[in-house]
Amino acid sequence: MHIARTLSELRAALATSERPAFVPSMGNLHAGHLALVRQAKPLGDTAVVSIFVNRLQFLPHEDFDSYPRTFESDCAQLEALGCDVLFAPTETDLYPQAQTFKVQPDPALANILEGEFRPGFFTGVCTVVMKLFSCVFSGGKGVAVFGQKDFQQQLILRHMVRQFALPIEIVTVPTSRAADGLALSSRNMYLSDSERAQAVQLSAALKDLVAKALELAAKGGSHAGSLEGHWDMTALESQALEGLRSLGWQPDYLTVRRQADLSPMDLSRHEPLVALGAARLGKTRLIDNLLA
Ligand code: PAF
Repeated sequence: MHIARTLSELRAALATSERPAFVPSMGNLHAGHLALVRQAKPLGDTAVVSIFVNRLQFLPHEDFDSYPRTFESDCAQLEALGCDVLFAPTETDLYPQAQTFKVQPDPALANILEGEFRPGFFTGVCTVVMKLFSCVFSGGKGVAVFGQKDFQQQLILRHMVRQFALPIEIVTVPTSRAADGLALSSRNMYLSDSERAQAVQLSAALKDLVAKALELAAKGGSHAGSLEGHWDMTALESQALEGLRSLGWQPDYLTVRRQADLSPMDLSRHEPLVALGAARLGKTRLIDNLLA
């Protein structure tokens, strides 16, 4: 595996690649990241992974400084998987001057859900991903692989690629989960043993919410007599938030949206849905989603 520390080293390593298959990451790799790399490998002629903890997507009070940095073990795992090129720039390589030009995603997609609770997050993500794309795909076409775990992120990046007519295919890989159903995440390592045992409650709450939403939709929305008098999605979502709160969580949102644009589900239409949630357990903020 070639380790490129600078943009010129990366360009030299990719000089003959006609179709890089790229997995951007912030490191601290776990089985979920490795699944993305495995999916990416056969999709291009050169498998490229980046490791860069992107300051632009962290709010001042968030965990930029303490975000786990595990470069040696990340390298060993990527090497074992047959990754061809690892791009691991320093901050001054990727942002030699303050990054004053930013990619501002559509507020309708980026200021809701994660964007409501982490203002500016998706501007930071889009800006760094655009920059990484221009480093990795300087020869033109390629494919980039993202996890479904960050559903809103992959949707916004798909829009970015379309709006800027980038010749890059985006592939989304289903979320990797622990045996109990907890979505794998670098932030799971912040959980205490008792929090870890409890953490699956977030995906369980989403499962329950989506089942009730589908039941409500099947009954046409306003005829859901079996749902204890709760007639609409707002009531179901409030119930779900209350349920998690009663278990000791501090939820930000639990909701069912249309997969296409994250707008509220329309109970009268049968269309692909996604239940999304974010909640804090102790000091750890977890997110998850389920497709329906
Ligand atoms: O999903 C992540 O790890 C990050 O948001 C990404 C896409 C690598 C951008 O920093």
